[in-house]
Amino acid sequence: MNTTLNTLSAQTVEDIKKAGLFKSQRVISTKQGSVILADGKELLNFCANNYLGLSGKEDLIDAAKKSLDEYGYGLSSVRFICGTQTIHTALEKQVAAFFHKEDAILFTSCWDANEGVFASLLTDQDAVISDALNHASLIDGIRLCKAERHVFKHMDMEDLEEQLKQTQEKHMRCIVTDGVFSMDGDIAPLKEICDLADKYDAFVVVDDAHASGFLGDTGRGAAEAAGVLDRVDVITTTFGKALGGATGGAVVASKEVVALLHQRARTTLFTNALPPVICGVTSYVLDYVDQHPELRETLWDNTRYFREKMASAGFTLPKSVHPIVPVIIGDAEPAMHMAEDMLAEGIYVIAFSYPVVPMGTARIRVQISASHTKEQIDQLVVAFEKLGKKYNIL
Ligand SMILES: Cc1ncc(COP(=O)(O)O)c(C=O)c1O
Repeated sequence: MNTTLNTLSAQTVEDIKKAGLFKSQRVISTKQGSVILADGKELLNFCANNYLGLSGKEDLIDAAKKSLDEYGYGLSSVRFICGTQTIHTALEKQVAAFFHKEDAILFTSCWDANEGVFASLLTDQDAVISDALNHASLIDGIRLCKAERHVFKHMDMEDLEEQLKQTQEKHMRCIVTDGVFSMDGDIAPLKEICDLADKYDAFVVVDDAHASGFLGDTGRGAAEAAGVLDRVDVITTTFGKALGGATGGAVVASKEVVALLHQRARTTLFTNALPPVICGVTSYVLDYVDQHPELRETLWDNTRYFREKMASAGFTLPKSVHPIVPVIIGDAEPAMHMAEDMLAEGIYVIAFSYPVVPMGTARIRVQISASHTKEQIDQLVVAFEKLGKKYNIL
């Protein structure tokens, strides 16, 4: 046993605690849902990415059992050796059709999709231009490629244009953005981004993890909402949020791009295939989402209801329409204490502070789901009002 390793690990964890960055885990003993048992206490859950309320739903469990029976548990193989079943190729076709693209390739998570995509498509002759607040998986994926790296100020189109001008001598320019940013719930201006991409001959990659399944008229995500589904070159997404909530992800693009990813993306080439049970349930969910537009309507109705009630109670909410609703508290301490006190009110929400979000904008992030009732949302607002007064936020 290496004692230096253990001592340094313990020291680093202590430092993380002292910096107020320690992440603890509340242990849930029920299925995921709007009411959960966490550490033995019944709580209203407002912090899952369970936008359509499908995680834990009986129909999905039945779909899982069916595909377990038919395709087994796992493949013990990567895709190109003996890890591709009919259920994988069928889901790839279905995912591509869902997003109105030519083809799709599955990954075991959106993290893996993002980590595999850039090194596969870009060389040292190219440039990648990334929004400053992009998700960690995009940042890591970009780090793995040899293209020249540029960062544009968050959603700042002037800065993006400047970076595009500066990289005109490069062979290809790739603009990368989250479709929706998870800390503020703000939605990338994809129409403007696509216009700039056209003007400067760039291509566009959008990570739509927080939009697929519910944003846009038919739930195709941020690109559909902006009217540019046909202009975004590459969409990466997860099945781990609105689309079922377990795991799995995909890259959706032209047939040429997908063909190259099958050859080059190390996060699919050298790792096991997505378990068939995830494929079976995801296929079920994609159909379910199309057959149940009322889920999206309920989600947006719940979101508007919560946003309006909180705004009229006097809370500051950054401008957006998304079911990610950050309630800005300001300082880190009261935000942390408020989230703790919420547990006593029977409510589970999480506080985020610097360096995860800018200094002075500590917040409690609420995530609304189609599975919440108006009464549950009312209970949340009442708790916010009570604690907002206690901590002098109101
Ligand atoms: C924007 C974004 N991209 C990617 C991911 C990773 O998704 P997955 O859980 O499928 O790896 C997340 C998850 O938090 C995310 O918020």
